[in-house]
Amino acid sequence: MQNQKPIYDMGNATAGIFKGNSISNAIKEIYGESASLFANLIKSKLPDTAREYTLLDIGSSKGELLSDILALLPEYNFDITVTDTNPDAVSQNCINGKKIVADAESLPLDDKSIDLVIMRYVLQFNLLENQKNIIREVSRVTKGFAIVQHGGSDSFDAESWREKVGKIFIDDELPQIKRNGGFWSSAEEIENYMDCENIRYERVLSKKIQGLSQPFIERYSLSNEQASKLRGMLGDKDFLTQTTWIIYPTE
Ligand SMILES: C[S@@+](CC[C@H](N)C(=O)[O-])C[C@H]1O[C@@H](n2cnc3c(N)ncnc32)[C@H](O)[C@@H]1O
Repeated sequence: MQNQKPIYDMGNATAGIFKGNSISNAIKEIYGESASLFANLIKSKLPDTAREYTLLDIGSSKGELLSDILALLPEYNFDITVTDTNPDAVSQNCINGKKIVADAESLPLDDKSIDLVIMRYVLQFNLLENQKNIIREVSRVTKGFAIVQHGGSDSFDAESWREKVGKIFIDDELPQIKRNGGFWSSAEEIENYMDCENIRYERVLSKKIQGLSQPFIERYSLSNEQASKLRGMLGDKDFLTQTTWIIYPTE
């Protein structure tokens, strides 16, 4: 039996922020560009719009990203399932489809049962060993392909990045963003695992985005004092590495 996962507070502004609605470039890049990237990948890999595809959104939150993707794909018919560990998020999910409270580490779905799986910014809320289980589950339930987008640590010096960034989540002056139990893996740590397990994948893109502090400032309505403290604590590590993979089914 697995331990119950912590339920993370995603902040009070996810409706706009997870869609990239902000004047901040960091938020536009971290959240606002995903829907068109995912939609273009789907169009290029699923050209037949006459048939229905099964679609699974893992860690869907309230469906903010998926609703934007669907708006860009009006010609498609999807049979949709959304999952999340957070029951409140699942019950408030705006997507028309099956809604399941489930841990991505053990999805109540058959092998190769889903044509298209999407998962954005879920891994870092889990420990590295749990992240590996999640990647294995993604590959197991996928029949066609999965698009996974990850917000991770510095690819060149993950340890130093994690040491500095980790401090923001235990600071008493930043109580809104306190968390434990997650792990900011690098893209390479995830790829090493996929290589070891013979999970086929393609790295679609990886980019360093400046302004890791900005989503926290806006999602959790930090005060000006808290915002400058956060930026000061992050210093030269005020960035994340966004990586997008296509992951293929388990052989
Ligand atoms: C930052 S939000 C991202 C939401 C959405 N995927 C997006 O990109 O807009 C992370 C979501 O992943 C969920 N989550 C984290 N770990 C999970 C797990 N092991 N299984 C299922 N959901 C998980 C959280 O509850 C949260 O709703």
